[in-house]
Amino acid sequence: MEIKVGLLGYGTVGSGVAKILTLEGELLKEKIGRPLKLQAAAVRNLDAERAFPPPPGILTTDPYKIAGNPEIQVVVELMGGIEPARSLILRALESGQHVVTANKALLAEKGDEIFQAARKSGRELAFEAAVAGAVPVIRTLKEGLAANRVQSVFGILNGTTNYILSAMTQDGTSYGEALAAAQRLGYAEADPTFDVEGLDAAHKLVLLTALAYGTLPKVEDVHAEGITGLEPTDFAFARELGYVIKLLATAALSPEDGGVEARLHPAMIPRGHLLAGVSGAMNAVMIRGHASGDIFLSGAGAGMMPTASAVVGDIVDVARTGKNGSSPFRPSLGWHSLKAGGVRDVLETRTAHYVRFSVSDRPGVLSAISGAFGRHGISIARVIQKGRDPKSGAVTLVLLTHRAMERDIRKALEETAAFEALTAPAKRIRVEELSLPE
Ligand SMILES: NC(=O)c1ccc[n+]([C@@H]2O[C@H](COP(=O)([O-])OP(=O)(O)OC[C@H]3O[C@@H](n4cnc5c(N)ncnc54)[C@H](OP(=O)(O)O)[C@@H]3O)[C@@H](O)[C@H]2O)c1
Repeated sequence: MEIKVGLLGYGTVGSGVAKILTLEGELLKEKIGRPLKLQAAAVRNLDAERAFPPPPGILTTDPYKIAGNPEIQVVVELMGGIEPARSLILRALESGQHVVTANKALLAEKGDEIFQAARKSGRELAFEAAVAGAVPVIRTLKEGLAANRVQSVFGILNGTTNYILSAMTQDGTSYGEALAAAQRLGYAEADPTFDVEGLDAAHKLVLLTALAYGTLPKVEDVHAEGITGLEPTDFAFARELGYVIKLLATAALSPEDGGVEARLHPAMIPRGHLLAGVSGAMNAVMIRGHASGDIFLSGAGAGMMPTASAVVGDIVDVARTGKNGSSPFRPSLGWHSLKAGGVRDVLETRTAHYVRFSVSDRPGVLSAISGAFGRHGISIARVIQKGRDPKSGAVTLVLLTHRAMERDIRKALEETAAFEALTAPAKRIRVEELSLPE
């Protein structure tokens, strides 16, 4: 018997999913053992032009003809946003339908409710496309690496910001110029806030943290910094120091005491590392399992067909295993129960730091700065001093610190901010060596 699929949304991703379901029917049938049928698709505007023309008669403006319809076994939510996507997914699960979604914002913001509803219904809730597009990172964490205690997950999870940072690295352009180029080429939205301020990647990090550690953090507890404050000077220093600047998502066990950390911020990473070579709009994830060692995955993080690849992969998986809900329950996040406790406050996390000061050229400034760092228990690994800027008369001073607690570095920066010798606010970027803990 055929398995009927309904799409909630027929936009960029929905069109790609329809294209694969329509053109690759034979291939998918061979993989599942039964045919899939695209039964219906809900949209707002029946007359809009679509990237792949919908099969005749499938469009409807009433999504509840799909969610809650007993004739449709798999509901694929590709509308985006919180409502009505949330209510539709809940209705589908309550009605015994399996759900596939690409909606990271919804799962990160309302995950508690939605994952619980999936558990209660005993139906599948699959979301491979919600993190890193075509890259099968969810399945890798949930299944391929299930035997592992995961030590860390480092990710480049947003194509827009990676495109901008790659341009700033390669061409020495300013943030504004790189953003304008990304917008011209369609890699950034007209309003890029959601991407450049780190919210999109933070949503994905919430999900990766849950998959790796079995605890679902609240979005607001995940420290997220964007890329808007980065300056070309810091890219030049990164190059000089052997680093590349990336917007790095980290879900990791603290090497000090095993607490779970989840944070997203620009970071200098070694130029020779695999993640440093991920350029343009690509995404990548490096997972370190205690038994597997390092696993590296990379590929297109967005776009019509790459995202549809992940969505249809989920449909195939659900169709193979979820025969009308009679199969044993497979927890959506790969853990039978989620642990309370969330993630630790960013103030309690440790990294090394790059700190750039612009100071007046007078004696005693370096010792005053290093004194302030010392008072907060931060030890300095390296100092670079650049000659006097002929225009401003200021001197650039770069400090690389050893690993230090976030709380302490903030106190040291607060103290030095009051120094009269500073000619501009200090810039700080975390440094991640990404090496195995000693
Ligand atoms: N685009 C990507 O590369 C990408 C990558 C990874 C994940 N995702 C995720 O995939 C999801 C879909 O993204 P997208 O880029 O395909 O979005 P999109 O192009 O804006 O498409 C959204 C679709 O949902 C329909 N829709 C929205 N609200 C509706 C409502 N109230 N009732 C009925 N239909 C409604 C729209 O109808 P109309 O067409 O009539 O307006 C449209 O067909 C989002 O959660 C996104 O985060 C996207």
